[in-house]
Amino acid sequence: MAGALKVKVAPSILAADFSKLGLETKRAEEAGGDLVHADVMDGHFVPNLTIGPDVVRAIRRWTTLPLHTHLMIENPHRFFEAFFEAGADGIIFHVEVSNDVFENIETLRKLGVECGLSLNPDTPIEAVFNYLADIDVLLIMTVYPGFGGQEFMPESLERIRKARQEATEKNPELDIAVDGGINDDTAPKVISAGANVLVAGTALFRSENMAEAIRRLRP
Ligand code: DX5
Ligand code: ZN
Repeated sequence: MAGALKVKVAPSILAADFSKLGLETKRAEEAGGDLVHADVMDGHFVPNLTIGPDVVRAIRRWTTLPLHTHLMIENPHRFFEAFFEAGADGIIFHVEVSNDVFENIETLRKLGVECGLSLNPDTPIEAVFNYLADIDVLLIMTVYPGFGGQEFMPESLERIRKARQEATEKNPELDIAVDGGINDDTAPKVISAGANVLVAGTALFRSENMAEAIRRLRP
């Protein structure tokens, strides 16, 4: 269990109706979401394309919640400033990118945004251990990134446990987020393994009642 850390629910707008993203973002806030998660994909790092800074800027006007951008892109540092200027409160990049991770962390620190690091399911969890003391959020992918609506990978639970254990000494306040296949069934499992931020797309935007769906994810 993630000690005294509050469990936060982060609706992922990847599963929203893209023809009315502003209204969908507002709906996520009104339903009780704690922050908004926006997936940025470049067709290289992942086999899909989504949104860029202009769309993030447009969404920004529809919510007062913290807005986190999850950059599934190569050379993420080229876009840090653009997403910051678009109004992102948090910027999450992947440990698998080719440029220097510490440099990226430093750039985000200088910008003054929340700094997040993510990793893919096939990257050893130990790959992020060196950075835990210097980041605000660790986003553990619990599916292969690129698409919503996939099934949670159960082997993620052990990875979450290891990360939380490692963070206990290095960064007790670290938010450990999980992304992919989070629903009523998997939420209690990831929380008891040590996650405290639940990113969820399909389970929220495609539910009958988002407020209810968010409540059901909370412990
Ligand atoms: C997947 C994205 C997720 C996605 C999760 O690459 O990073 O944020 O929206 O979608 P669900 O909750 O549908 O698995
Ligand atoms: Zn995401």
